[in-house]
Amino acid sequence: HVCFLHPAMHLCFLLHSLKCYGNVYSLFIGPRAAVVINGAQAMKEAMITKAADFAGRPQDIFNFNCHLWLLLSKRMVLADYGASWKEHRRFALMTLRNFGLGKQSMEQRILGEMQYTMETLKRSIGKHSVVMFHNAASNIICQVLFGTRYDYDDNFIKVVVQCFKENSKIANGAWAMVSHNMFVSEFIKLATCLITEHKETRVPGQPRDFLDCYLDELDKVDDCSSFCEDRLIMFVLDLHFPGTDTTSNTLLTGFLYLMTYPHIHGRCQQEINQVLEKKDHASYDDRRNMPYTQAVIHEVQRIANTVPLSVYHCTTKDTKLMGYFLPKGEFAKPDAFMPFSAGPRVGLAPMALFLIMVTLLRRFKFIWPEDAEQPD
Ligand code: HEM
Repeated sequence: HVCFLHPAMHLCFLLHSLKCYGNVYSLFIGPRAAVVINGAQAMKEAMITKAADFAGRPQDIFNFNCHLWLLLSKRMVLADYGASWKEHRRFALMTLRNFGLGKQSMEQRILGEMQYTMETLKRSIGKHSVVMFHNAASNIICQVLFGTRYDYDDNFIKVVVQCFKENSKIANGAWAMVSHNMFVSEFIKLATCLITEHKETRVPGQPRDFLDCYLDELDKVDDCSSFCEDRLIMFVLDLHFPGTDTTSNTLLTGFLYLMTYPHIHGRCQQEINQVLEKKDHASYDDRRNMPYTQAVIHEVQRIANTVPLSVYHCTTKDTKLMGYFLPKGEFAKPDAFMPFSAGPRVGLAPMALFLIMVTLLRRFKFIWPEDAEQPD
């Protein structure tokens, strides 16, 4: 009956279970036994020391329709630990790095997108734009994946953002355990057009973006490879979807909290102004001189709790955790606070949060409307 409970009920339940049963305990999610892992020591053992033992993904937890599951399970986020996941993860990391992930060229992309966000903010002073951060986060990834950014009123970005918002609401809700139809058909149509366009205009060996790199890879591999054109759309969705919704929801929570605590907002601005005094713009390295702002961002991530219980893991072989025996295929639900998780499945991106928050706080003061009720 979990889906009929109050949305915050699971947190009280987990807290209660923690007190009664300790840092490692099991419970049934529907007909399947799952293990909840809590606390730094247990998390370290599962996610770092025995990372490979816990790097699987359960293949039967969500009640997706079959065709959709076949597509989803073969790509990255929900793919089980195996050759296909390893090859795709390695390829994704290498290609994203080649296009700037974690480097200065990514900074330039993020800061470039910020110019558009700031224009939008200036135009919408006094109003509130629910999708502004979604648009920015999506566009930063679009530049790497498709080699282009989209105007915020372009049909592509409107459809994509809407699709991600709706699906994330469903996937994070209790009904996901009962039945989960992902509404990705519009995204698939648009991505298919982009792939066709890329195939027509690409120069093999001279990739312009992630899509071109994948098409180049397809030229090299044989029939036994896990790389194939069918998987490309879902692979792209796998990078686009988690990157957009997580970043934008964290930012929305961050600015809401800064409006609620103006003295913290003010102290961040003071630190940012001091450090960036003579500079045109922030760079990711500036975080080292902004301990207060960094701490605020960490706290925002803790409060935003964007992926509250991370993504289910499952054991890839019989193993032990804190002395308990766990058979192969056992679900593990990490419950400690690690915003990007840890180990081989770790998420891919902290740079955007820092640069977006610092850039906007330097230029704007965010105020909760006087005539509105206090946020609850
Ligand atoms: C505030 C921003 C973000 C947060 C809080 C976040 C959080 C997470 C978490 C908790 C996981 C699960 C890790 C696990 O299973 O142990 C994850 C996985 C993942 N994230 Fe993120 N993420 C963020 C941004 C991004 C961005 C910007 C991208 C894309 C560029 C991205 C791509 C991925 C992918 C592909 C995975 C799956 C990794 C795998 O299963 O191998 N994330 N993220």
